[in-house]
Amino acid sequence: MVIGCTHLDQNEKSTGMTTEAINIKLDSLRKTIEHHNYLYYVKSKPEISDFEYDSLYKELEELEHQHPHLIVPHSPTQKVGGQVLSEFENFPHSVPMLSLDNTYNEQELTAFHNRVVKLLSHNEITYTVEPKIDGVGISIRYEEGILRRALTRGNGEVGDDVTVNVRTIKSIPSRLHPENPPPIWEARGEIFMSKKDFAKLNEDREANGEHRFANPRNCSAGSLKLLNSAEVAKRPLDAVFYTIGEISGTKILSQKHLLDRLKQYGLKPPAFYRECQSIDEVLAAINELESIRDQFPYELDGAVVKINDFSHQRELGFTAKSPRWAIAYKFEPEKAITTINAVTIQIGRTGTLTPVAELEPVSLSGSTVSRATLHNFEEVARKDIRIGDRVEIEKAGEIIPAVLRSIKDSRDGSEETINQPLNCPVCQEPVAAIDDEVAVRCTNFNCSQQVKERLIHFASRGAMDIETLGEALVELLVDHNFINNPDDIYNFSIEQIEHLKNYEGLGDKSVEKLLLKIEESKSNPPWRLLFGLGIRHVGAKSSKTLLKHFHNIPTLALASKEDLVEIRDIGPVVADSIYEYFRNEKNIAILERLKKSGLNFSDDTKKIQNSLFTNKTCVITGTLETYKRDDLKNKLSDMGANVTGSVSVKTDYLIVGKNAGSKLQKAEKLRVKIIHESELVEMIKCP
Ligand code: IVH
Repeated sequence: MVIGCTHLDQNEKSTGMTTEAINIKLDSLRKTIEHHNYLYYVKSKPEISDFEYDSLYKELEELEHQHPHLIVPHSPTQKVGGQVLSEFENFPHSVPMLSLDNTYNEQELTAFHNRVVKLLSHNEITYTVEPKIDGVGISIRYEEGILRRALTRGNGEVGDDVTVNVRTIKSIPSRLHPENPPPIWEARGEIFMSKKDFAKLNEDREANGEHRFANPRNCSAGSLKLLNSAEVAKRPLDAVFYTIGEISGTKILSQKHLLDRLKQYGLKPPAFYRECQSIDEVLAAINELESIRDQFPYELDGAVVKINDFSHQRELGFTAKSPRWAIAYKFEPEKAITTINAVTIQIGRTGTLTPVAELEPVSLSGSTVSRATLHNFEEVARKDIRIGDRVEIEKAGEIIPAVLRSIKDSRDGSEETINQPLNCPVCQEPVAAIDDEVAVRCTNFNCSQQVKERLIHFASRGAMDIETLGEALVELLVDHNFINNPDDIYNFSIEQIEHLKNYEGLGDKSVEKLLLKIEESKSNPPWRLLFGLGIRHVGAKSSKTLLKHFHNIPTLALASKEDLVEIRDIGPVVADSIYEYFRNEKNIAILERLKKSGLNFSDDTKKIQNSLFTNKTCVITGTLETYKRDDLKNKLSDMGANVTGSVSVKTDYLIVGKNAGSKLQKAEKLRVKIIHESELVEMIKCP
């Protein structure tokens, strides 16, 4: 905007208004609409009629239509979305998004209280009790009051950038309310769908012949990850906020202060909040919340108890994964009674046979359940569960529903016993109990279901992360005999590729994308490959540990059991399994073919130079101009640095960009060396 400019530009000529005047008008309209959005979506107390609101909205739309160059991303008109992404970018969280420890009863909660009393130098503790919302964690960053970035929790360190989707959520302001917002304000909370909106959405979908969503949480998570933001805008997503990440230019003194401030900024806090002076009051508040759980507008899976005073929170600090100043109190999982219509058998990637009960659909914790696990055949026999039985089922948190018991009194004699099969229902080869495990396994390594499950695991997000190579495509490829082993993924023939393009939903573009993702996966760090191989008992964490120790897969392959058990966190069972895996000729042949296909087997390839950053622990904060944060992180790691997320006495360097906040303050307090971006560029150049 050019202030004081007297001549009119092309647009100005058409309206007779200067750009400055149009901008003032636009801003005033936007602020009025934002205020009414807040009253309607956050406070649920609208002050104007729908008609009046629509008129304001139309006026803004019209003015923006006449002056499209003056449209800003935070305008209320932009809430309809429209941007289509091909994938979400990843960004690191400025402050890690941790999780909460869980308690399930009064004793565990009292133990938490006793720990807190012991750790604090006094016992004048005020607690707060809030609902634990069963939604999707989100971190929303406002810079100078404008919504700049929204990240999902991801792995707690790095999240997906879902900003364009979050902008469509009506109860999330694109601009904070006050005139002088803090320079940085990261609000963290939960995106969810109210029970009512979810039910309505499912009804509409059913009427349109679309499939129903299983529960509000899955639906919210799926909606937030849609690549077309205009589609997201159609989903009735809502959000509440209850904590903060990085903030600057303001101080928050307590949880109560935080919730008040969130409200003041136009962000919705949870719909229940109690302040408690004793653990008995905390329990009473939890009981009160549990008693109104069913009437609550959205799904809760418990209560969150926090220490109110932020100075006490700071005193208590964090463990590696959760704060010591907060704890979740999980409500008893809800149970339901229904009938087993049939039993099917699932085969896992190691051949395990899991009986699954096909149920008469029943509503449980807000979702319709039609399948539940029976765990294994020994348990089926021990609990004497039969087809046709009335059974009690339970859903606990993330875990799929399980059959708890059968109601023997309801039997009429027509129930059928569930027998452990002697042969695999897919390949018909014999099944066997391995060692002293209760599980029985299909003994045929080439069983098509095992092959599929192994490949699904190999390509999965946690392992080789070959996007687009999901369950359905793996199934198709295995059924066509295009792939059997992981190395086949890297060796499609031209004929196979051409053949694939004939399938519905698999045009030229998606096949191209698939091949690109496969190619990209070749340079994954080797721990992903090791994890993807699916060696029994070797998870992502042990894969990382093993590669930190051995640096490459060939050296690991030569390790003796003794070498392996010497590594911290690697026990004898894991060691045995690794040892056996690398002594199997078939596995070695697969590995050799993967190597030939160009997959990365070694961390050594990243030659670590001796640099100014070698063995230095670095933290990055603020907005950088020269580097993308992830790129800088990788660059510093390549130069031998250990890049972490938070400042502590162990930090050697704090690298600061623009608008650095609390990390800078902490680093100054701890006398950590501060490196500004300009110096950093020079240091990186240094040999
Ligand atoms: S406070 C440092 N408050 O539960 C973490 N979390 O298992 C502080 N959640 O990741 C989190 N309702 O996504 C907090 N009232 C609430 C919550 C809540 C739901 C989620 C959150 C967190 C997870 C922890």
